Amino acid sequence: MLNALHRVVGPVLRQAARTESRISRGHMVQLRTAATFRLLEDCLEISDGGKRMHFNYVWLRDHCRSASCFNSATHQRSLDTASIELTVRPQSSALEHGQLVLTWPGGHVSKYSLSWLAENSYEERKTASEQHRILWNADIYQNANVSTVKWDKFMSCDNELKKFLQNYLLYGIAFVDDVPTTVEATEKVTQRVSLIRETTYGRMWSFTSDFSRGDTAYSQLALDRHTDTSYFQEPCGIQVFHCLRHEGTGGRTLLVDGFHAAEKLRQRSHQNFELLFQIPIRHEYIENTDNHKNHMMGIGPVLNVYPWNNELYMIRYNNYDRSVINTIPHETVQRWYVAHRELTEELRRPENELWVKLIPGKVIFIDNWRVLHGRESFTGLRQLCGCYLTRDDILSAARCFGLQA
Ligand SMILES: [Fe+2]
Repeated sequence: MLNALHRVVGPVLRQAARTESRISRGHMVQLRTAATFRLLEDCLEISDGGKRMHFNYVWLRDHCRSASCFNSATHQRSLDTASIELTVRPQSSALEHGQLVLTWPGGHVSKYSLSWLAENSYEERKTASEQHRILWNADIYQNANVSTVKWDKFMSCDNELKKFLQNYLLYGIAFVDDVPTTVEATEKVTQRVSLIRETTYGRMWSFTSDFSRGDTAYSQLALDRHTDTSYFQEPCGIQVFHCLRHEGTGGRTLLVDGFHAAEKLRQRSHQNFELLFQIPIRHEYIENTDNHKNHMMGIGPVLNVYPWNNELYMIRYNNYDRSVINTIPHETVQRWYVAHRELTEELRRPENELWVKLIPGKVIFIDNWRVLHGRESFTGLRQLCGCYLTRDDILSAARCFGLQA
């Protein structure tokens, strides 16, 4: 009876299940004043007020934190998951000192705190965001008066690094000022944050407008907003720029919060938003010069969301490098272009454009999975250096400071 009710989702039957649970006292244990749990045929159910959480029995056995199943020193699982019977079910259950205690066939005992279960339940995760962000247009960012950090303190003080990481996580961009105008100092400042990701462009790159590579970036032309390395299967996580020298005019950097634009699209047309995260497309980089031969290809949707909570985690937007569209069914092509146009219009709204003049000494870190960059055309000699950083390492550094990332 309980199991049948559990399987049917619907407000009326859920109410019936609640009534049933109140009647079946033998199956219930009081966890807190309002929280109860009971063993259903295929899962454990915890009810707390109007909230219900369900835990699959194999999942519970797999997540046992006893010394023989989990090494708490290394935070690694010792239990061989394949050894768990897929039909496993606890023999008994109890509440001891605020912990749920399950005894499995064979006598093994697992203990879980209610807060740990609540925190890790699917029901809880699907409403929680993985990363807190402040989405911005030019006004929002400028009015936020985000504090910048300075080279000296940044290199020596962990609190300054933490402040920088917090800015980076919230806005997808962060600056360090007063950095010596050399490639070496720029490299040092990046290594304080993360590891350099070496690519075909080298480790640290330093270029002038000499068109030395087969890419528009090496010219004086304006560049429309885009994310970099969309033609990598995993686009680079962080873009770093440092303008070491500019004798001329123009060349301001354009920044656009891609997530802000995508959320506007989600609000206006959920169908178009969905299309852009459901349909993978191809980006390519083909270079064939005397010194460099490359053929890179990255396949993935324009918008990338976590499937359990639909939270955006990456935008892959580069009209220069988008390749032939041949991964979309014929009947969807027109709809995809409509959705893409709507996103493009949002990305191009003047109020969403943040223009920054990169002066020597000011190093910018851009979340290449979120913030698009571009530049206006310029005159004169302009020397820029920078690199890509690995995303995993900057997020790891943030988490080690206790930041949500
Ligand atoms: Fe770029």
